[in-house]
Amino acid sequence: MSPASPPDTGHWQARIERILKDVLPEPDPQQPALAQAMAYSLSNGGKRIRPTLVYASAAALGQAPGPALDSVAASLECIHAYSLIHDDLPAMDDDDLRRGQPSCHIAFDEATAILAGDALQALAFELVADAPELSAEQRIGLVRALARAAGAQGMVLGQAIDLGAVAQELDLANLERMHQHKTGALIRASVSMAALACSAGPEQHASLDQFALCTGLAFQVQDDILDVTADTATLGKRQGADSARHKPTYVSLLGLEGARSKAEELLAKSLAALDPLGADADPLRALARYIVHRGH
Ligand code: IPE
Ligand code: IPE
Ligand code: MG
Ligand code: MG
Ligand code: MG
Repeated sequence: MSPASPPDTGHWQARIERILKDVLPEPDPQQPALAQAMAYSLSNGGKRIRPTLVYASAAALGQAPGPALDSVAASLECIHAYSLIHDDLPAMDDDDLRRGQPSCHIAFDEATAILAGDALQALAFELVADAPELSAEQRIGLVRALARAAGAQGMVLGQAIDLGAVAQELDLANLERMHQHKTGALIRASVSMAALACSAGPEQHASLDQFALCTGLAFQVQDDILDVTADTATLGKRQGADSARHKPTYVSLLGLEGARSKAEELLAKSLAALDPLGADADPLRALARYIVHRGH
């Protein structure tokens, strides 16, 4: 099957590019490299899947983009950019290429990359704490959701499991646990933070959460597949990096066809979860299909 093109979410992507430029700090006159490294890693492209999921989830709830959703979307992309900067460091995946350009620690240096990641993480929390048009209770709820998704119960735990699993054979349950944390947690937060900001009811929230659980896992299954099937130029990161580092992946465990079937199965489940939400959820459906059929 040829790779899917992104769904028609260009308007949301243009919006988030503008917001991300706005939230970046001015370089300090004495230490300009810190803000420059933040801008380098936040503004160098990327598919912007997490912000797009925020806007699409809000659309599924009948809400148009506005300043509150912009803050939520930008906060998730800041956490994501920080996670990628740290993921590429020599102590972690030791990758020198990201989005077709030298990784942050190559373009700058390791210390600057670590600090830029730290600062992007702090910026993410500032953004949700200051999110306009929301009640104090909603903003606290968003801070809590982001902290849980990013921290030692979420993405960071997933990264720890990933590093601890090098050259180990994980069984399927533990591989899923790793993927649900390192990647699924932020995808799930993208959807549930949008639901929080839109004051979704419990039933809508549950449908969206079930969707995000399946889509988040499918996202990393396809990332594992692309590490084997795509090329470095298309990926913008080194092809074959997982096997070179002896990482357990869905492909190493299930084989390529097994991983593909798993992704399709998860897609079917994620679409079924959206059934109660009607046509307003069509952009989310298109995104889920894109996530599983994407070429990079
Ligand atoms: C890559 O994420 C890292 C994973 C969590 C698998 P993306 O594939 O969303 O990366 P960008 O932002 O588009 O570069
Ligand atoms: C990264 O997973 C997940 C996070 C950054 C949290 P990977 O290590 O598979 O991501 P890529 O393949 O380097 O983008
Ligand atoms: Mg990694
Ligand atoms: Mg990596
Ligand atoms: Mg990967």
